[in-house]
Amino acid sequence: MNSVPFDQLDGQIWFNGEFVPWKDAKIHVLTHGLHYASAVFEGEKAYGGRIFELRAHTERLIASGRALGFQIPYSADEIDEACNELLKRQGFTDAYVRPVAWRGSEMMGVSAQHNRINLAIAIWEWPSYYGSIEQRMKGIRLDMAEYRRPDPKTAPSRAKAAGLYMICTISKHAAEAKGYSDAMMLDWRGRVAEATSANIFFAKDGVIHTPEADCFLNGITRQTVIRLARERGIEVQERAILPEELDSFTECWLTGTAAEVTPVSEIGPHRFTPGEMCRKMMEAYTAEVTPKLATAEAAE
Ligand SMILES: Cc1ncc(COP(=O)(O)O)c(C=O)c1O
Repeated sequence: MNSVPFDQLDGQIWFNGEFVPWKDAKIHVLTHGLHYASAVFEGEKAYGGRIFELRAHTERLIASGRALGFQIPYSADEIDEACNELLKRQGFTDAYVRPVAWRGSEMMGVSAQHNRINLAIAIWEWPSYYGSIEQRMKGIRLDMAEYRRPDPKTAPSRAKAAGLYMICTISKHAAEAKGYSDAMMLDWRGRVAEATSANIFFAKDGVIHTPEADCFLNGITRQTVIRLARERGIEVQERAILPEELDSFTECWLTGTAAEVTPVSEIGPHRFTPGEMCRKMMEAYTAEVTPKLATAEAAE
């Protein structure tokens, strides 16, 4: 657990266009986003003072809001500028960036046509994992989740919407209670989908396999890792993967802004041995997120 609760950290938060002291960035208990999950958010990482794929995250935030039926009242340029300015003010080079948009308190009921759309951005320090590749190669253990990723006909399943995380927290808590690090979720059809906050990849015979992102978040890290693999001449198949296939794969890893590339050693009864493909993708991703100037300076 974080030794200091998140509402007690220091610095500033960007709140509806103003930089306010961290402890003053408060909302009322009668906030629609809290009661009805009318909230969307992003998770971004800064490496060496640069937010990786900032514009892609900002565009996804705006698109997630639209999927919930609201327009965030700031342009992508304004949101990017706010993130960059806040990162400077917070004084971190390696950090986590959390924009969140939500419906306010003007109406309290399922209908919230006239509620203000709020946007806040918080940034906290997140030291980089450079150098810990060997430790991560041990792999983490995943349980099988009870809940499934929903049919796109039952929820805006590709948005980064707060409501979709209800089953993620339930599944992650259940897995942790059994001593696992996380849980792998199937989708509504019973196909392999993703972990509770990261996408999933497998490898066998030099080929990478990953579920098609047709009912869950098409992670920006996922897209980056697919591109990096293909640039290296590695075949990547995006396809339906059935749980019965899991034993046929030799390697497995998760991808996500927070997870980066995290090797997996177990999913329920299935075993994997993190090997060359995990290592190659971890190294490629680390090189990709590292600002080129910082890389050049570090080499001097
Ligand atoms: C449910 C879920 N899937 C996948 C991802 C990976 O997305 P990204 O690589 O854009 O961080 C995340 C993390 O944001 C997530 O919460």
